[in-house]
Amino acid sequence: MSRTLLLIGAGRMGAALARGWIAEGRGPEIAAIEPNPDPVFARALKKAGGLLNPKGALIAAPKAVVLAVKPQMLEAVARDAARFAAARPVFVSIAAGVGLAKLETWLGDRAAIVRAMPNLPAAVGEGVTVATPNGRVSRAQKALAGALLKAAGALEWLDDESPIDAVTAVSGSGPAYVFLLAEAMAAAGVAAGLKPDLAARLARTTVAGAGALLSAWPERDAATLRRDVTSPGGTTEAALKILMANDALQKLMTRAVQAAARRAGELGR
Ligand SMILES: NC(=O)c1ccc[n+]([C@@H]2O[C@H](COP(=O)([O-])OP(=O)(O)OC[C@H]3O[C@@H](n4cnc5c(N)ncnc54)[C@H](OP(=O)(O)O)[C@@H]3O)[C@@H](O)[C@H]2O)c1
Repeated sequence: MSRTLLLIGAGRMGAALARGWIAEGRGPEIAAIEPNPDPVFARALKKAGGLLNPKGALIAAPKAVVLAVKPQMLEAVARDAARFAAARPVFVSIAAGVGLAKLETWLGDRAAIVRAMPNLPAAVGEGVTVATPNGRVSRAQKALAGALLKAAGALEWLDDESPIDAVTAVSGSGPAYVFLLAEAMAAAGVAAGLKPDLAARLARTTVAGAGALLSAWPERDAATLRRDVTSPGGTTEAALKILMANDALQKLMTRAVQAAARRAGELGR
């Protein structure tokens, strides 16, 4: 059977996407090309009816070609993948910092291309991906690309890629800011007299639990949730008075996001 979903690069992100496709029953549609496959992923793909590193004839006419290699490998991989363009697939690139113009140069300017920016929680299906189609992507191709990307979590479409540096600075780099928050809470717990391993467990579970609430209650925004747990004159209020004095945390976060966006712009040139 010919495979219609071609995944090129089944590393951390590519395999995470493919695990989502398998969970949705798309296993028999998948062909993955990966020089160094993770054995657990390889077994899962095979069990689901997918193919790993198949012969060319089995992927002659893909409907979607997902490019999930590191940005530095992408030019060579995309130039090679351009051979599938005659079958009119939608190409989906998840490489950070590689814009549609470059992708069109490598894949051909008639290629239908979606540039997507996932983030690390995609590895557990809890990511958020921001995607931009080029002018060649049909409605059906956008729907297919969207369905494939949603395997990694939430999906936001942008009509043009100009805000992508800001997206990179908020959702792309964002998980690291939250990890830093957990580190800082743990260190502060130690300073307040807790044993380091207990402080680390409390900080980790608290950050994860607060994230789960944000996810489970989308109708309540972050500010509402914060206000809900802040009793007047209570302990949380005492801490927030420090964090929010003169907008201290807000100002720091604004500078951090600006620095990340600036760097994304430099790297993308
Ligand atoms: N990880 C993140 O948080 C994140 C977030 C946003 C975007 N992204 C983007 O996602 C892409 C993949 O990142 P990743 O973290 O998944 O990287 P990764 O784990 O290194 O996965 C890339 C895989 O592609 C394989 N590969 C190399 N050359 C290939 C070729 N010619 N054909 C087929 N496969 C090939 C690599 O094999 P070898 O190991 O043998 O080289 C590797 O297994 C990157 O472009 C990155 O910018 C990642």
